[in-house]
Amino acid sequence: MPVRTAVIVAAGVGTRFLPVSKSVPKEMLPLVDRPVIQYAVEQAAEAGIERVVLVTSRGKTAMEDYFDLAPDLERTLRERASPKLEAVERVSRMAEITAVRQREPLGLGHAVLTAKSAVGGEPFIVYLPDEILLGEPSVTRQMLDAYERLGNAVGVVEVPWDDVPRYGVVEGEARSPRETLLTRCVEKPPRREAPSNLAIVGPYVFSPAIFDCLESITAGAIGELQLTDGIDLLAQREPVHAYRFEGERFDAGTPLGLLQTSVELALRHPDYADAMRVWLRGLAERIA
Ligand code: UTP
Repeated sequence: MPVRTAVIVAAGVGTRFLPVSKSVPKEMLPLVDRPVIQYAVEQAAEAGIERVVLVTSRGKTAMEDYFDLAPDLERTLRERASPKLEAVERVSRMAEITAVRQREPLGLGHAVLTAKSAVGGEPFIVYLPDEILLGEPSVTRQMLDAYERLGNAVGVVEVPWDDVPRYGVVEGEARSPRETLLTRCVEKPPRREAPSNLAIVGPYVFSPAIFDCLESITAGAIGELQLTDGIDLLAQREPVHAYRFEGERFDAGTPLGLLQTSVELALRHPDYADAMRVWLRGLAERIA
């Protein structure tokens, strides 16, 4: 069955962006010329995904508004022959966007489970919107292809061993340089106990069986339903592969990461790359 649906989990509190995230969802912060969340939606739409389910929470309606039609604005831009019209129109027509509410921040696993009835009994792809993943073919395309070949697929990157304690990492049997049959996920292990340095960053492509697994597990120590616990159970029922996709990964989930990702993306943007390069060279000389 082809994957038609994407779930973007965006209901988190965004503690690291406080106080900004008190009233602006961190997913709406700009990365060059569009909000962070748009990168995932665009990549999904380009790969043929038709429906996007946003998992949101109180105070984060700016995301739904952003992807809604804006007839008055579009009329005004058309009357003024504004060059921004196309970008504005594109945002609301990329995919069919719906939103579901996670009423309490009960964890990533709970956020995915909140999308159950919106997804239906179909396979789907899950994005962590802070993760900006660039590849050719796109990371989404690579993950969908992995799902077609292998079934459930979890996007991983190799991280330096010192960084391993910050991630959920994968234990399993390598099946090829990019594919590992997953036996277990270990959440934020101390470096010595880490089974690998393959960190889970998504996207994830799951069969609908993940929902039963998430319903069967119980909340962990801090009262959150962990997606990694759901994946462990899924791996006992169906094959789950960790797929080390080819491409670059930027983490826009912290203020410093957002800044660095902005610079990296600006250097790849046709409208800004030249000016950025000139400015960065001057800056490097000034701070050298
Ligand atoms: P994070 O661990 O990055 O949490 O969640 P956060 O709230 O976004 O940010 P910090 O850590 O407080 O600064 C990973 C992803 O899971 C989503 C988040 O929105 C983010 O995309 N999430 C997490 C939910 O949707 N619901 C939750 O209950 C927890």
